[in-house]
Amino acid sequence: MDPILEIKNLCIDFKTNHGNIRACDDVSINFYRGDIIGIIGESGSGKSTLASGILKTISAPGKIANGEILYHKNDGNTIDLLKLSDQEYSKLRWTNITTVFQAAQNVLNPTLRIKDHFIETAMAHNEKRKLTKKQILDKSATLLRQVRLEERILDSYPHQLSGGMKQRTIIALSLLLEPDIIILDEPTTALDVITQWYIIDILKKIHEETRITMIFMTHDVSIIGSVVDRIGVMYCGQMVEYGKVEDVFKKPSHPYTYGLMNAVPSLRDDIASRKAIPGYPPNLLELPKGCRFGPRCFLCGDGICKSEEILVKEMFEIENEQLTLCPAWKKVKEKCL
Ligand SMILES: Nc1ncnc2c1ncn2[C@@H]1O[C@H](COP(=O)(O)OP(=O)(O)OP(=O)(O)O)[C@@H](O)[C@H]1O
Ligand SMILES: [Mg+2]
Repeated sequence: MDPILEIKNLCIDFKTNHGNIRACDDVSINFYRGDIIGIIGESGSGKSTLASGILKTISAPGKIANGEILYHKNDGNTIDLLKLSDQEYSKLRWTNITTVFQAAQNVLNPTLRIKDHFIETAMAHNEKRKLTKKQILDKSATLLRQVRLEERILDSYPHQLSGGMKQRTIIALSLLLEPDIIILDEPTTALDVITQWYIIDILKKIHEETRITMIFMTHDVSIIGSVVDRIGVMYCGQMVEYGKVEDVFKKPSHPYTYGLMNAVPSLRDDIASRKAIPGYPPNLLELPKGCRFGPRCFLCGDGICKSEEILVKEMFEIENEQLTLCPAWKKVKEKCL
C-alpha cells in the first residue's frame, strides 16, 4: 500500500445566486501508486469537481474551502498540492500530473499541426529533460504508435482527424513528459461505443507498460469495470464507498452502489431485470436531514439514517480495504450476497 495521492477532508464550494453549494464535501481518499482507479456517480455528484480540485483548476465562483492533497513523489518528497501557488503547480502539470477530459479534443489548436502541439508542450515544460526537437518528434511518433495512430499524422491539422483520433492524440500528448498520474474525466463519453472500448483497451496497454497511476472519472460504470483496480463511488459531493473493484461490484456496502450496479444495462440481460434507482439526487442547496441517499434508499430506517448526530462524515473500513459511509452496511451485504 503505497499512496501517491492522499486527499484529506477536501471541501470545494461554488457560490451561486441561491446560496453556497458544497460540490465536494469532506472527501478523504487515498490513491495508490500504479493503480487504475475509477470514480463513478451520477451526473452532478462531484466527479469533475474532485478532478479539478486535484488539478487545482477550480476557478470562480468555485473555491477550495478546506483540505489537503498530499502528493508523494517518486523521489520520496511529499508536497501538499493545495499549498502550491499557480506558478508552482504549473511546473507539475504535464511532467508529474496530467489530464484528459471529455472535451479535450477541442483543446487542439486548429491552426497548428499535430507535431507543433508536441513540440510546444515539450518546450514549455522542458526544464528537467532538455529534449532536442528531434528527440521530441521521435518520442511523439512512438507515443502515437502506442495509441495506434500513424506517425504521419504529425503533419496533419486537427480538423483532418476524427473525434476518436483527436482523443487518442491528446492521450499521447499527455504522456509525452512521462507523468506519474493521469486524470481522465469522461475521456470517452463523446465517442461511439466501439471507439470507447478501443481507447480503454489502449489505456490498459499503456498502463501495463508504464504503471502510471490512472484516475478515471465517469458515470458509465460498464466501460471502466473491466480495467480498474479500485472504485470510488460519489453521491451528492460525498465519497460514499471505496474499495477493490471485485468487492465493490460483488459485495457493495452502500445502498447507492447496489442501486448503481442494478441499474447498469446489459444487452444480454432481460431489460426488465434492470432497476433504476427511484427518484433523483437532491438539490445540493436543500439536502435532506441525515443520510443524503435516505429518500431514495431501500433500507433507510428512521433511526440511524435520519439522525445527523450519529451519521458518520467520513468513510470507515469494514473489511479488506473496503470503505463505506453507510452505517447500515451489514444489511446491504445481506441483501447482495
Ligand atoms: N462553475 C460552477 N458553478 C456553480 N456550480 C457548479 C459549477 N461547477 C459545478 N457546479 C456544481 O457542482 C456539482 C457537481 O458538479 P460536477 O460537474 O463536479 O459533477 P459530475 O459528477 O462531474 O457530473 P457529470 O457526470 O455530469 O459530469 C453540481 O451540482 C454542479 O451544479
Ligand atoms: Mg463531470
